[in-house]
Amino acid sequence: MEQIQIIDSKNHVGETVKIGAWVANKRSSGKIAFLQLRDGTAYFQGVVVKSEVPEEVFQLAKGLNQETSVMITGEIREDTRSKFGYEIGITGIEVIGESNEYPITPKEHGTDFLMDHRHLWLRSSKQHAVMQVRNEIIRATYEFFNTNGFVKIDPPILTGSAPEGTTELFHTNYFDEEAYLSQSGQLYMEAAAMAFGKVFSFGPTFRAEKSKTRRHLIEFWMIEPEMAFMHQEDSLEVQEKYVAFLVQNVLDNCDHALDILERDKELLKKYTKLPFPRISYDDAVELLKKNGFDDIEWGDDFGSPHETFIANSFEQPVFILNYPKAIKPFYMKPHPTRDDVVICADMIAPEGYGEIIGGSERATDYEFLLEQIRQHGLDEKEYSWYLDLRKYGSVPHSGFGLGLERTVTWLSGIEHVRESIPFPRLLNRLYP
Ligand code: 4AD
Ligand code: MG
Repeated sequence: MEQIQIIDSKNHVGETVKIGAWVANKRSSGKIAFLQLRDGTAYFQGVVVKSEVPEEVFQLAKGLNQETSVMITGEIREDTRSKFGYEIGITGIEVIGESNEYPITPKEHGTDFLMDHRHLWLRSSKQHAVMQVRNEIIRATYEFFNTNGFVKIDPPILTGSAPEGTTELFHTNYFDEEAYLSQSGQLYMEAAAMAFGKVFSFGPTFRAEKSKTRRHLIEFWMIEPEMAFMHQEDSLEVQEKYVAFLVQNVLDNCDHALDILERDKELLKKYTKLPFPRISYDDAVELLKKNGFDDIEWGDDFGSPHETFIANSFEQPVFILNYPKAIKPFYMKPHPTRDDVVICADMIAPEGYGEIIGGSERATDYEFLLEQIRQHGLDEKEYSWYLDLRKYGSVPHSGFGLGLERTVTWLSGIEHVRESIPFPRLLNRLYP
């Protein structure tokens, strides 16, 4: 007898098969028991009819506790009443692992309780759906960059240099030296772009940020493309094509997950339309001031209410261009005619999800960059390898970083970034 997965039921209608599963839920009457079964690939219903099975099978079915693992035998049939479309008529049940007093019951639980039980919470259908969206974004990311001539390069996690400022670093011992956990692979990706042309990385990054917002994780995954011989305008085109591609693939391949998440698909479709709108930082500040934000002055960084207002002024993700030099990292290319702004852009997601991409054209001039490193209080010895890139065939180049979890949160339509990663590292949360 063949052992199958629930997701493949459609290929086995009328066959008697085995399925390894967990009992997600159950209800029964005197004559019939319905088991809600899940095996990680999908959920479907198992039906046990008292008059059609040995009495001990019926009694066993009626007594199964939530999350008991079982090996089910039965016949796959069509089930027009369920959205999944198939069910199993159970003839045999073997208990594999008992489950007593499973802590996550169908009733409502508080977030702290659920986060404490994250190792079990992942089994629930909503969390499962979010992880399917995450998996699709990961898959589509590789497809996009592989089919567009990019080479995957892995920057180190243990590093001695800090691209994004020194205040949010995780310090660690590196034998008799001090090292940090990478907050961005960018500087290494610039070196890689000079070796391979178009490159991308995809890995974990760390920020010791003491912020407790719905957008911040301590450990998150970032996709960082870097492109040689490319100016910022062309980089913006890569960015919008990439994000639209992610949205389209989630729509194409996560239909059921989006249903479970009750995500508005018509809204998502709008995000596949290119190009995305662009607004300068200067105009964004004016827009905010005109609309009653008197807490913002030219030169300030945007907070989430500002980003949300700007995003709501457009129907698609929006690029905010050319921020003040003083609030951006040392490596950004200076504006050709203004010395107060740099050539950069953040992409702000719609619906209040905030910044999903930060990117820029990179400074190419050796003397300028050395001066920036000094002005930012960085140790130029630690950056001498990076400065080498400007000594030996420096070329215009641009790149960006997309935050995986913010993108998952947005496309899933969930409230908080902590549900977009299997085991979130948050302020004051290292377990499970
Ligand atoms: O804007 P950031 O800091 O940019 C960089 O690190 C550049 N070096 C990237 C590059 O040009 N190669 O971070 C990029 C993105 C943000 O737009 C956001 O989506 C995400 O990373 N991000 C976070 N996501 C979750 N939690 C945090 N604490 C995050 N910080 C940044
Ligand atoms: Mg940023």
